[in-house]
Amino acid sequence: MIDVERLDHAYDGAATLRDVSFRLGAGEKAVLLGCNGCGKSTLLKILAGLVHPLSGGYRYDGRTVDAASLRDASFRRRFRAEVGLLFQRSDAMLFNPTVRDEIAFGPRQHGLDDAEARVVRWATALGVAELLDRAPWTLSAGQKQMVCLASLLVLEPRLLLLDEPTAALDPRSTGWLVDFLQDLDQTLLVTTHNLSLAPELGPRCLVLGEDHALLHDGGADGLAGNLDLLRRANLVHGHRHRHGDREHRHDHTHDWD
Ligand SMILES: Nc1ncnc2c1ncn2[C@@H]1O[C@H](COP(=O)(O)OP(=O)(O)OP(=O)(O)O)[C@@H](O)[C@H]1O
Ligand SMILES: [Mg+2]
Repeated sequence: MIDVERLDHAYDGAATLRDVSFRLGAGEKAVLLGCNGCGKSTLLKILAGLVHPLSGGYRYDGRTVDAASLRDASFRRRFRAEVGLLFQRSDAMLFNPTVRDEIAFGPRQHGLDDAEARVVRWATALGVAELLDRAPWTLSAGQKQMVCLASLLVLEPRLLLLDEPTAALDPRSTGWLVDFLQDLDQTLLVTTHNLSLAPELGPRCLVLGEDHALLHDGGADGLAGNLDLLRRANLVHGHRHRHGDREHRHDHTHDWD
C-alpha cells in the first residue's frame, strides 16, 4: 500500500529525512519511533500528501503521490478519503463550532448522505457521544484526542497515520485505544515515545535515528532490551538516583510514566 523509496526532505536547508525507504502492505500495523526532531511527524505528513519530499518517491497503492498527482481531482478525492492523519497537536485539527460538526465535516465534504448516522456511530465507538454538542476548544486534551480520532475514522480510511495518539491519554484510555487499534482492519502507522507500548501498537517497528535516516525496520518485540539500537536512536534516558546520601546515574529504557 505504501512504497517509500529513498526519501529526502529538509526544511530551510536543514535535513529532516535522509534516504528513507520502506514498504507497508495493506492491513499491516507498524510503529514509528525516534527522538524529538528526528522527522517522525514530517514523515507522516509526507505519507498524508501534505508535505512533499525533496527527492525520492512515494507511491500509494501503486500511484505516485506528489504535487502533480494530487492536482488530479479524482485521485485527490480518493487519496484524501482513504488516508487519515491524526496530527500530533489536536488543536491543529479542531476548527468547528461543535464536536458534532467536527466529526461530520469529512462526510459532509465528501457529500455522504449518511453523515449524521456516521457521526453517532463513531462518536459512540470513541466514547465521545456525550460531547457532541460541546465546543471542541472546551474539551480536555484526552477528549480532544478522541474527537480527532472519531473525525478521521468517520470516513473509514484505509490508511491511518497516527502521530502520538496516546500522548494525552491516561493509562485506562491508552489501554483501551491500543486494543481498539489492534482490532481495526486498517493499515496503521503510529508514532509513540512510549517504548513499552511499541510492541502493542504494531508487530513491525521503524526507528528513525537522530541523523534522520532509518536505523531499524523489523520486529517490535524485544525492542526494550536492544540497548545498542536504543542508544544509537537516542531513546534511552539517564537520570540521577539517590540512595541515602549516595547518588548515581545510569541509563533506562523504561518509560517515565
Ligand atoms: N514547518 C517547519 N518549518 C521548519 N522546520 C520544521 C518545520 N516542521 C518541523 N521542522 C523541523 O524539522 C525537524 C523534524 O521535525 P518533526 O516534527 O518531524 O520531528 P519529530 O520526530 O516528529 O519530533 P517530536 O518527537 O518532537 O514530535 C525538527 O528539527 C523541526 O524543528
Ligand atoms: Mg512529532
